[in-house]
Amino acid sequence: MATLKIENLYVEVEGKQILKDFNLTMNTGEIHALMGPNGTGKSTLAQAIMGHPLYHVTGGKVWLDDQNILELSVDERARLGLFQAVQYPSEIPGITNAEFLKAAINARRDEDDPMAVMDFIAKLDEKMKLLDMPEEMAERYLNEGFSGGEKKRNEILQLLMIEPQFAILDEIDSGLDIDALQVVAHGINSMRGKDFGALIITHYQRLLNYIEPDYVHIVMDGRIVKNGGPELALHVENEGYQQIIESLQLHHQLEE
Ligand SMILES: Nc1ncnc2c1ncn2[C@@H]1O[C@H](COP(=O)(O)OP(=O)(O)O)[C@@H](O)[C@H]1O
Ligand SMILES: [Mg+2]
Repeated sequence: MATLKIENLYVEVEGKQILKDFNLTMNTGEIHALMGPNGTGKSTLAQAIMGHPLYHVTGGKVWLDDQNILELSVDERARLGLFQAVQYPSEIPGITNAEFLKAAINARRDEDDPMAVMDFIAKLDEKMKLLDMPEEMAERYLNEGFSGGEKKRNEILQLLMIEPQFAILDEIDSGLDIDALQVVAHGINSMRGKDFGALIITHYQRLLNYIEPDYVHIVMDGRIVKNGGPELALHVENEGYQQIIESLQLHHQLEE
């Protein structure tokens, strides 16, 4: 079992403090959902963990087992088994999807041990079928001209091909119709197992109807304010974030 532990993390973006004393621990074998209103720092967390240069860590640590990954380059973090599906995937003209995937897989393997071509093709074929993707998408340029839903599906294709230890999936459900949502959920569920952990970042509860999380965390104003199980996501769906804010404030007042 591996553990990803975010400890007292502070992150600044463009001179603004976004994450404040953020704490979260997850193990392989677990699916965590991170929910919260827009602009509360969910994507900031994902970017900081993966090492995006715009997101400055001003305090705290992120441990993958006994290694503080904040000391590592982006590539080293990926090689250790971290994967990020970004909220807004970029288009890369000139590189086909298949070329990109092959490079991404081999970048995570020893230099003298690239994946055999036949194995790659067989795996790609299997995973694209699982995600209901037409074959020709392998030869299209990465995300170029892909619809919002196709980009999201493609992020999940990367996940299934790379098979990381931990995945951070940022708003993987945004812009998906119900069919695409089910396909994406099917893909993520196919990864479930003792060697895989995921942090699913979402604004809405909808995706969690198809991927039942083990733990749900509500983030507001740069930190987790409430932890629970799947029932917490349903509570958010029924009551809205505003109600949670109010009940937390009430709590606070009662304590004082
Ligand atoms: N690249 C960026 N440049 C400037 N401000 C940013 C950037 N990324 C995030 N922020 C700011 O950080 C705050 C949190 O944003 P974000 O982490 O994207 O929230 P969420 O994903 O929860 O909607 C917002 O105020 C947002 O404007
Ligand atoms: Mg976001």
